[in-house]
Amino acid sequence: MNHDHHNNQHENGSEETSRPLSPWLVGAFMLALCWGGFYLAFNSGGFRQDVYESNAVNWAGGGVAAAAPVDPKVVGKRLYNQNCVVCHQASGMGVAGQFPPLVGSEYVLAEGNMGDNHLVMLVLNGLQGHFMVKGQAYNNAMVPWKQLSDEQIADILTYIRSDWGNNAPPITPDFVAQIRKETASATDSYTQEQLMAMPAMKPAASQGSAPAKK
Ligand code: HEC
Repeated sequence: MNHDHHNNQHENGSEETSRPLSPWLVGAFMLALCWGGFYLAFNSGGFRQDVYESNAVNWAGGGVAAAAPVDPKVVGKRLYNQNCVVCHQASGMGVAGQFPPLVGSEYVLAEGNMGDNHLVMLVLNGLQGHFMVKGQAYNNAMVPWKQLSDEQIADILTYIRSDWGNNAPPITPDFVAQIRKETASATDSYTQEQLMAMPAMKPAASQGSAPAKK
């Protein structure tokens, strides 16, 4: 927007002093300003934080953007959208034959033979080869996610256990830290057989009502 109105190039010319701006130019400029103003007014969503930040759905009554959310599920959803959504999809349904669903998954919900430890282990250390989810076979691979912090993994898992109709207790950062320590020697992604060989843990620690430590 820093257009030069003073024609400085011609400073040394004798006859050229500061010319008045062309009225046409001024008019065009004002028009552009007005258009810009209206455009913003109609398309900015009133500059509400939640218009831009899809996770910040704290409407706080009067439409005033609320302070940054600290709910693990909200943070977890954002992290899910950054790290997991390309394969498991926003719907949590995955892609048939390629990426298994998280909705109703026995791993996510720690149902049957599955424990909370299996869920944390497979996300921390990755998966490879033949893998059955909800009676469907997959034969693909998932990279390890151990570069994420204990808290980030806990938030993601707490989120995927609570959206899309899933309803399982939160996973705490402490529990992720514990499993990370116990499986630190794992150098390769798990196969289903290796994962299932570990006994299921459904510790009180990961199911308690204690809020995640910040
Ligand atoms: C590049 C694709 C990809 C990404 C990204 C990805 N996954 Fe996976 N995920 C897979 C595949 C493929 C499997 C099945 C592994 C196999 O076939 O051996 C899987 C399996 C799983 C399972 C166990 C099976 C099930 O459906 O319940 C969970 C839980 C899971 N992923 C969670 C996550 C989480 C959490 C993230 C993000 C931190 C993530 N995944 C990111 C591809 C991906």
